[in-house]
Amino acid sequence: MPTRLAFDSVVKEFPGVRALDGVSFTAEGGQVHALMGENGAGKSTLLKILSGAYSPTAGSLEIDGQRHVFPSTAAAIAAGVAVIYQELFLVPEMTVAENLYLGHLPARGGVIKGRQLREDARRQLAWIGEDIDPDTKVSYLPIAQRQLIEIAKALTRGARVIAFDEPTSSLSSREVDRLFTIIRDLRARGHVILYVTHRMDEVFALCDAVTVLRDGRHIKTFDGMAGLTVDDVIRSMVGRDLKNVFNYTPRPHGGPALEVEAVTGPGLTAPASFSVAKGEIVGMFGLVGAGRSELLRLIYGAERRTGGQVRIEGRPLPAAGPRGSIEAGLVLCPEDRKRDGIVPVRSVAENINISARRHHATAGFVLDRGWERANAASHIASLSIKTPSAATQIVYLSGGNQQKVILARWLSENVKVILLDEPTRGIDVGAKSEIYAIIQQLAARGVGVLFVSSELPEVLGLADRILVMRGGALSGALARGEAGESAVLKCALPVSG
Ligand SMILES: Nc1ncnc2c1ncn2[C@@H]1O[C@H](COP(=O)(O)OP(=O)(O)OP(=O)(O)O)[C@@H](O)[C@H]1O
Ligand SMILES: [Mg+2]
Repeated sequence: MPTRLAFDSVVKEFPGVRALDGVSFTAEGGQVHALMGENGAGKSTLLKILSGAYSPTAGSLEIDGQRHVFPSTAAAIAAGVAVIYQELFLVPEMTVAENLYLGHLPARGGVIKGRQLREDARRQLAWIGEDIDPDTKVSYLPIAQRQLIEIAKALTRGARVIAFDEPTSSLSSREVDRLFTIIRDLRARGHVILYVTHRMDEVFALCDAVTVLRDGRHIKTFDGMAGLTVDDVIRSMVGRDLKNVFNYTPRPHGGPALEVEAVTGPGLTAPASFSVAKGEIVGMFGLVGAGRSELLRLIYGAERRTGGQVRIEGRPLPAAGPRGSIEAGLVLCPEDRKRDGIVPVRSVAENINISARRHHATAGFVLDRGWERANAASHIASLSIKTPSAATQIVYLSGGNQQKVILARWLSENVKVILLDEPTRGIDVGAKSEIYAIIQQLAARGVGVLFVSSELPEVLGLADRILVMRGGALSGALARGEAGESAVLKCALPVSG
């Protein structure tokens, strides 16, 4: 018998925010059920209620006809629920085997049976197709493997309801394939799978039903994928039609803004040379691991160059690292904005103004509170950052909204060249088009823009010119007109034979 999960009028209130407003829907076992919605729609909050991490303000849920309001995560686990968060909850200092059986280690008379533990662990790991030594410390494993171990852990606990919150955001395409195979296997066992993502391609490749939340409310559940289009889903997510996401308009280009000449360093297998003109938007495509982030970090000076030169508007960049780069008008908005970007205890406004403030201070300005308030307010509006107020601590924002705050920080900087690493990762469809508009505005002001993206439509839709990387080296440069999907992919895929 397949499992059945139903949410019944779930409400969750935080001070000043109604994150969930009476959500009811059913997810059938033997199906992968996508949960979609704009940043701040309430997806992660719903999963936290399912996992027992939050208790609902009102409402309940039902698993196989049994009604629950979980008072703790232990209660949810006991009822057969597992939630795989983006931030994983393995204990890095413990071994794989210990993590798998955390909380229910096989023991006799208080003594943990090491051999049985290892054997059980090996069996679970074999099922997820991983040849990992159960005695390995988790801290030595890459994210993708940790995620698979989380899944194995869920199964050792007999989970029948398994929820994933944006699980693929740091996986390579091969790792995504592996994850999908495992999820399909879980589906075949009749489990309920809830799957939160912003990626339409994943929804259409993997899912059997889609539920859309907007502003904490249940908007619609599509019971099947037959006849369903991307536009249908987007329309219910944002409440309107979303045409011309890119709205590309050609701009005049000036002299060189950024010149990269024979740059070498860690992560590159050949010297890299190219330039970006004033007012030009250059997109950099490549598969995960092709060396794109590494190249950006070398240009910016976050990583030490072993050779070559970088010039901003003709002037060689001093070798002073990021500090010197920022002073020269070169900024990098990193891929891992959560880790590199936010100052968690500070407010949204402070996180937006942090770099502009430094700029003002170094220029000998007195802090201008009025300007800061206006700057924060204008970015909150233009990027539709969902926050109770500019004074709210950034940690209380949803994942995607934190991303937008960090992006806003760099957009308010007085820059000549901006490097953006995956600027729309984790960001919903509506906000994506706003970010594309902002990038084009920057270029129209004469800023040179270089952005890295793993989403081909984004590169094709936004860039004036496309650079492709493969295996740590530049492998192609294509003009907007000549760059079709297959031409770009041909440069990006490993050469066979
Ligand atoms: N602990 C908290 N305290 C206060 N507000 C919170 C808390 N957690 C979430 N919120 C608010 O609840 C709303 C829903 O957030 P949630 O994280 O569920 O969104 P989401 O749909 O997962 O978005 P994203 O796609 O950006 O991850 C947001 O307005 C968020 O700011
Ligand atoms: Mg979320």
